[in-house]
Amino acid sequence: MEAPRRRLVVVSNRVPNFMEQEAGQGAGARQAGGLVSALVPALEETGGLWFGWSGQTTPQRSRTELRRWTDSSIELCMLDLSVEEVKRYYFGFSNRAIWPLFHGFPALMVLREEEYRAYRRVNRRFAEALISELRPDDDVWVHDYHLLQLGVELHNLGWEGCMGFFLHIPFPAPEIYATLPWARQFLEALLSYDLIGFHTKLYQKNFLETALLELGGGFDGTYLRTSQGVARVGVYPIGIEPERFWTWASTSEGIQRGITLRKSVNDRHIVIGVDRLDYTKGIPVRLQAFQRLLERFPSWRGKVCLVQISAPSRTDVPEYVQQKEQVDRLVGNINGRFSDHDWIPVRYLYRTFRQEELAAIYRVADVCLVTPLRDGMNLVAKEYIASQTREPGVLVLSRFCGAAEELTEALIVNPYDIDGTARALKEALEMPLRQRRKRWEALYKVVTTSTSQVWRNRYLTDLHSAHQERELRAP
Ligand code: G6P
Repeated sequence: MEAPRRRLVVVSNRVPNFMEQEAGQGAGARQAGGLVSALVPALEETGGLWFGWSGQTTPQRSRTELRRWTDSSIELCMLDLSVEEVKRYYFGFSNRAIWPLFHGFPALMVLREEEYRAYRRVNRRFAEALISELRPDDDVWVHDYHLLQLGVELHNLGWEGCMGFFLHIPFPAPEIYATLPWARQFLEALLSYDLIGFHTKLYQKNFLETALLELGGGFDGTYLRTSQGVARVGVYPIGIEPERFWTWASTSEGIQRGITLRKSVNDRHIVIGVDRLDYTKGIPVRLQAFQRLLERFPSWRGKVCLVQISAPSRTDVPEYVQQKEQVDRLVGNINGRFSDHDWIPVRYLYRTFRQEELAAIYRVADVCLVTPLRDGMNLVAKEYIASQTREPGVLVLSRFCGAAEELTEALIVNPYDIDGTARALKEALEMPLRQRRKRWEALYKVVTTSTSQVWRNRYLTDLHSAHQERELRAP
């Protein structure tokens, strides 16, 4: 008889918006992101729990009572944060210190001691609230940069069960990481997890080099052993559920949506870009590359439209406000300069789309431009490939996103090189069908092999063995 599956407890800053979906609020505006669809099946299977910030704020830090939502198979457990905590821990330290630093933009890092202290405090509050929800044989899986110190806080409160961490953003090169005043504290905190997971070999390498430099010790290919502790370290590239995108793209509604989009651009070529509006995504250099295409290859004027979808994000952070202003300006400049009475080169949509809608748009796009300056993985690249249910289009992919380690048959570009990206865009637009098919087949194989299910199962299997080994080693 198969052993019963242990309960999965997922912890992340944000929780899925099941409650709003149930209440019918925001339907059509919000969507289940990649992480939610990757983890929900495992939560359903094990009667799991998802723990995180409720998204609600209280004037003071008085409310400790948790908000709960449950259906037959999943429980959500949520903590409110105070206005001050959200300001310092989320908008502050998480998104103005760790985010730019880990993406390799140390010059954008804003360091404030009080924000670091708030970050630690919120990680402790998460631990204090979570510990009373845990059962000894739960599998605790902590996600992302907001909660790097949650493990050590749980540990201090006496948690000895299975506990893993996954970083969804890049880990920077050692000399960049070293600019963080609390560099050592974060490394030590990470060692309290049984397993530390990264999307790519590069991030794992950066982390190991950094840890060995700062803490000493060794790595045997599986375990990192330092004087401060031992943890398993591995590479697990997250994937998608490709069949969902394929299905969404092929429904009659999806096909109709695509036809409407194509008609609206008078059957011109469509280049698509989809991102959160974030400075790491390289939206300005993408717009400049498109502009360069129109400048250098005038035969493409009047024949191609860039549909740029940008989802509003972290709108209270000044760097994001500036980024939006820059993008607005660039779109205005390009359209002002090149538009004709019957052609507008850039169609700019500043809002969130549901995944079903995106699949239909991807399907009819001749080229998908995924050109971040740095990105942990980037699932848009994989979603585009999974949605090509007709003659396939071409993926143009930045070498600086995690997906480039797997999607090697894409047209790989350096997004800082505007001329190079413009040339790649022209090549993509003019690529013969046979070559498009060949590239797409290779990419589709990767996307359907390295799925979200494979990601989750590989990680959880390794987490169990890492925890068992730790128990065996314990005195
Ligand atoms: C990235 C991060 C996630 C985060 C998401 C949206 O993908 O890795 O942890 O949830 O961006 O950002 P937000 O600040 O809205 O949660």
